[in-house]
This record gives sequence, C-alpha cells and structure tokens, in this order.
Amino acid sequence: MTTPPTKNAKLIAWVNEIAALCEPQDVHWCDGSQEEYDHLCAQMVASGTFVRLNPAKRPNSYLARSHPSDVARVEERTFICSKSKEEAGPTNNWASPDEMRATLRKIYKGCMRGRTMYVIPFSMGPLGSPIAKIGFEITDSPYVVANMRIMTRMGKAVLEVLGDSPGYIPCIHSVGAPLAPGQKDVPWPCAPSIADKYIVHFPDTYEIWSYGSGYGGNALLGKKCLALRIASCMARDQGWLAEHMLILGLESPTGEKTYVAAAFPSACGKTNLAMILPPQGLEGWKALTVGDDIAWIKPGPDGTLRAINPEAGFFGVAPGTSYDSNPMAMESIKANTIFTNVVLTDDGDIWWEGMGPAPAHGIDWQGNDWTPEAGRVGAHANARFTAPAVQCPTIDPQWEDPAGVPISAFIFGGRLSKTFPLVYQAFDWNSGVFMAATMGSEATAAAIGVSGIRRDPFAMLPFAGYNMADYWGHWVRYGARAGIKLPQIFRVNWFRKNADGKFAWPGYGQNMRVLQWIVDRVHGHADAAESPFGLMPRYEDLNWKGLDFSKEQFLGIMDIVRDGVIEEAAAIDEYFGKFGNHLPPELEVERKKLQKRAESAPETWSLGG
Ligand code: OXD
Ligand code: MN
Repeated sequence: MTTPPTKNAKLIAWVNEIAALCEPQDVHWCDGSQEEYDHLCAQMVASGTFVRLNPAKRPNSYLARSHPSDVARVEERTFICSKSKEEAGPTNNWASPDEMRATLRKIYKGCMRGRTMYVIPFSMGPLGSPIAKIGFEITDSPYVVANMRIMTRMGKAVLEVLGDSPGYIPCIHSVGAPLAPGQKDVPWPCAPSIADKYIVHFPDTYEIWSYGSGYGGNALLGKKCLALRIASCMARDQGWLAEHMLILGLESPTGEKTYVAAAFPSACGKTNLAMILPPQGLEGWKALTVGDDIAWIKPGPDGTLRAINPEAGFFGVAPGTSYDSNPMAMESIKANTIFTNVVLTDDGDIWWEGMGPAPAHGIDWQGNDWTPEAGRVGAHANARFTAPAVQCPTIDPQWEDPAGVPISAFIFGGRLSKTFPLVYQAFDWNSGVFMAATMGSEATAAAIGVSGIRRDPFAMLPFAGYNMADYWGHWVRYGARAGIKLPQIFRVNWFRKNADGKFAWPGYGQNMRVLQWIVDRVHGHADAAESPFGLMPRYEDLNWKGLDFSKEQFLGIMDIVRDGVIEEAAAIDEYFGKFGNHLPPELEVERKKLQKRAESAPETWSLGG
C-alpha cells in the first residue's frame, strides 16, 4: 500500500475499510500525472487490454475491446436504494437499502483479490468551483483510471482542495473478477452474466457501489451515477439542477453571447448539436461548446442560472460520427484518445460504420478479421471514444469558468416523425416544464403506449435518482422561486417526415437557424405566432440565407393536425396516471390547457392561416 497522500482521516478510514472488504493485492493512490497515465497504459498494452494505435496516425491513443457481454449501461441492473420504493418512483428499479447493503457486503468480499485497488480523487466541475463536487472512485480497473483521467479533473490537486473536509462522494467500483493465486488475467475482466452486475445508488447517503461491469456509465462513476443520479438528489435537497443537457454558447456577428442548455433522448444528435458548426449563410455566427452531456446549474448572485459542465472529456458514441455529421468531434479525437469497441485498421488506426469509406480489411470489435463483406458490423453500435474536451477546436473560452455560464434558454427535443413541429416556445415556465416532462421519441418497436411515443422526460428517464414526478415538482417550484431570472423554454424536432416518408428538415448545421431564432426570441428580437403547442416562428422569422428551403416546405414541418394533438393529450393523461399523487397539479393543468387549445383548433392548424 502506498502511503496515503492525505491526512483526511475520514477518507483514509474509508479507503482502509474498502481495502479490508475487497482484499486487493495492493492499493495505489492516483496522482493524476501524465507519467502515471503513460505507465498504466503501457501496463494495459502489455496485458492485452489496450492496443497502442499507430503514433503517426493517432498519437498517444489506444484501442480497448470489451468482453462481448459488457458493452453498455445495464439499466435493468441499476438500482435506486431510497428508504421507500415510492421515493424512487415508478420509473426506477428500487431495492431496499438494508437488503442491498447485505448483498453488497457479500459480493464485494474479496472481490479484488489478485488485483490493484486504485483510489481516484476527482472533481466534477472546475476545481474549487462553487458548483463543483469532489468524488473518490475506488476501482480495480486500470481502464477506468485511464478514462477517469480524461473525463474528470483527477489527481493530487483534488486532495489539496478537499483538505480535511469530509465532503466527498464515495464511489466504489469493482469489475467483479477476483484472481486466484497464479490465475492469468483476461484483457477485459467482468462478472460472468448481466444478473451478476449491480449499479447501486444510495440517495440518502449520496453513495455509489458498482459491481461486475467495466463499461462506460457502469464503471466511470463520475458520469451518470454521480453527475446525474446522485447529483439530481443533491440538487433536490440543496436547491439546484443536475441535468442531462449539453451546454452551447452562441455568439452573434455583433459579439453578443447567449448560452443555451439542451436535453435530448438518445439517437437525436445531441453530440452533433453540442459541436454544431454554423452553415453557409450564417457566417459571423459562432457556436462554442461548453459541454456535450451534463449540466449542473445554480442561480448566480445576479439571479441568472449559471451552468457548468461537470465533465472534462467526451465519452461519445463513435458509429455515425464523421467529418460530415460532426467535424468538431472528429477533430477532438485526433490524439490522446481511448477508443473502445471500434475497428482496428491494418495501418494501426481506427474505423467505424458511418465514418467514411470502409477499409478493405480490419479487426472488428470482437478481435476477429473483418472485411466490409463480412455481413456484420465492424464496430459495436455503442462503441465509444474518450477524448479530452480541450481538444475540441470550438470549445468555449469560458468552459472552465468556475462561476459557470449564464443560461438564457432550455431546449428539449425528441425524434418524432409527425404532429410535432420543428420548433416552438413554451408560453411560460410551467408550460415549458410540461413540454419537457412529456418529451420522448417515437418507439420503433410495438408496445409503447397509445401514441407510440417512448417518453423520456427531460431525457432523464434512466438518470433521475428519485421519483420522476417529484423531480418535475422540483422544476415547477424553481419557476416560482424569487429572485431568479428564468430561461425561456423551447421544444425542437429535427425529425419530422414528409409525405414520402423522408426527413423534411436537413438538420445538422442547418439547426443553427433554429438556434438563431431561439436567441432572437430570448433577446426579444423576433416575433412568434400562437399555435396549439406553443409560440412558433413564421417563415420570415427565420434566417434562410444560404439555404434553399421554400415557404411551402417550411409550412409542411410546422403545421399541426388537431387529432394528433388530441391524441397526444390523451396519451399524456394515461402516462401521468402512472405517477399517482406525486404528479405536480400544475402539469395536469397544462395538459388540460393543451387539450383545450387542440379542441378549439382547426382540423389542421397552419402558420399559413
Ligand atoms: C450517454 C447516455 O452515454 O446518455 O451519454 O447514455
Ligand atoms: Mn448522456
């Protein structure tokens, strides 16, 4: 055991307690240095966990291949252990905290035998920011250590900021694969089956215990477990917001900067929007990235809501990322990046579906020879890159401002082929909370409720650490809080289809036109028309310079079929029913208002009149 580089008595006692439980071969306190990182990576290359990529093509970068059974977050094994099931609510898996603690004591006993136990000090958010939080992750996975060094501010400086304070969030992680004396390790150790994995949160003590998986959000505990599930509980208790939102700075040609935060369910192009490049015609506008996944938001001294990105890196989905879809992401991963479950090319670089022309031959994510004719994908659909956020060429100069950036608008989205227009603005705060609480994407599979929409409220379905309806209530109360400058709320839908079943909106960089309207609305520079859903831009309110998109095409993605809205109001009624008396009455009021507006609307409501 290395000498603890701290005098923090609570911290030392906790580390000793976990070491006694897990029985590792040794304990290493991470200092977060480049030397430590390089040493761990070299060790993982030697053990077969990492492949070093060709330094001429991808300097200081590595490829890891996970076990084929360990490729994504395991929502069915993710538990919220609040005192009562009701506190966790109908959308979470609840388990009794006492029973879970007994189970954990059993499975963690000796679980790190033959392995090194790493102690990772990390800060979510700029070190010392009043919005940031300190965590410690104990893990037996060097892969986790390397990823945490990219995804968080990690190392010695965190111990200095913490000092003797007991104020840190304990996170315990084990891959759940102890080694018997002399037993050879495998490149990606993990528990043998899904049922052996546990991703456990104790909201009352702000504690995380994760067992059996080495992948992504199951194992990099600062991200979904801390920064969303536990942080959402802290935010409820302490009066702030922990959200599954990107943060984007929009700078007008006159240099006026407006920040927005946006939440989308998966597969809606959230990372693309976080790194959007203004299209031809909108020269002079700049879009600057603050964060691509999570926002922590607190009122500042002047009452504006101030947001930080608690993370320091991007853990992005690789397939589909290309110089067409997301050039800034491609630039961010040119070096110092860890790739997981992508194709290894014969020249020692990486490739995935949707990146561009396929190599004639490569090694697929499972380590087998692969050619484009193989009849199977080369990269896993949830293959990832882990890259430092500073490598993004459009990172906002303010992205590490400890005070956070002032948020002027919240944007919520979904993937919906009909009924929902390209963009609309909430009438007021509660109508915006209602829009966010009922958002979602069209379900491709059958069986998802009347309207076919899989609801993902605030994109927080798998991430709210307590009763979803109480979380809505927290948002409703925010709107009534004195002294706060409330952001405006918008909903967008890039995925409306035309009569031929094709996407009617070009999307990607063109979404910047919608963002410009949102900025204009925030500053009172643009008009809007009242529709059954909300306030909408007319054709002439959007900037069309450089894009050939006719008024007729625009009206086609803005019209609202009355029966679709009536059906939506009914589907929401059924959905809200799940939450019983936890549902904030304000949201039922908004639902009724929507129904009423729909009932008095023409058969097809159109901006064209
Ligand atoms: C993510 C997710 O990986 O939301 O960011 O699942
Ligand atoms: Mn996410």
